[in-house]
Amino acid sequence: MLLRKPSKADIVLLAFLAVTAVFVVIAIEPYWTKIIKQQWYVYTDPGRIRLGEKLYLTYCQDCHGHKASGQFPEKPKGGLDELGKQVAPALDGTGHSFHHPLNVWHRQIKKGSRLKNSRMKSWERRMSQYEIESVVAYIQSLWPEELLDQYQKMMVERNILPPQAKR
Ligand code: HEC
Repeated sequence: MLLRKPSKADIVLLAFLAVTAVFVVIAIEPYWTKIIKQQWYVYTDPGRIRLGEKLYLTYCQDCHGHKASGQFPEKPKGGLDELGKQVAPALDGTGHSFHHPLNVWHRQIKKGSRLKNSRMKSWERRMSQYEIESVVAYIQSLWPEELLDQYQKMMVERNILPPQAKR
């Protein structure tokens, strides 16, 4: 709290700081947008995909099924089982989850589900960011070519991915 009335010098200083802050934000904006936009990327590196497959088989397959085809083939979008628990959806593109940007995929895996009746837990203590990205790389390697194209188009349209992005 200022105990005295702000002097002219205080006001000039504040105005100067405000203008400087605006300039700094304008100056760095292209860089951070670029970084954020490149955060998603389909990793096609075979070593990463193999690591992702190993992790998937160990941690995820029990619920999400063989080759991410879902807990119940007849319920690729998830839903509820007969006990009222969430069904693990397909992650191979037949469910609906594929349209999320990559940061959402990573967050869902890191944090798990907020729903009480869901068995999808948080994986951030068990897996590093690199491992989580690798699991997603494995899952994306199961998507058919058209789906990857559709995903890329969607991300460009939603301004998440720059138009020149290539896998
Ligand atoms: C014990 C069962 C179980 C295991 C193990 C499990 N999941 Fe899940 N997962 C679920 C369920 C159930 C849901 C649906 C959650 C909800 O809607 O609340 C889900 C949801 C998800 C979603 C969000 C899908 C969407 O449509 O939004 C992703 C991504 C996901 N899981 C990835 C993984 C990965 C990767 C692993 C392995 C590291 C894994 N899960 C392990 C049960 C599981």
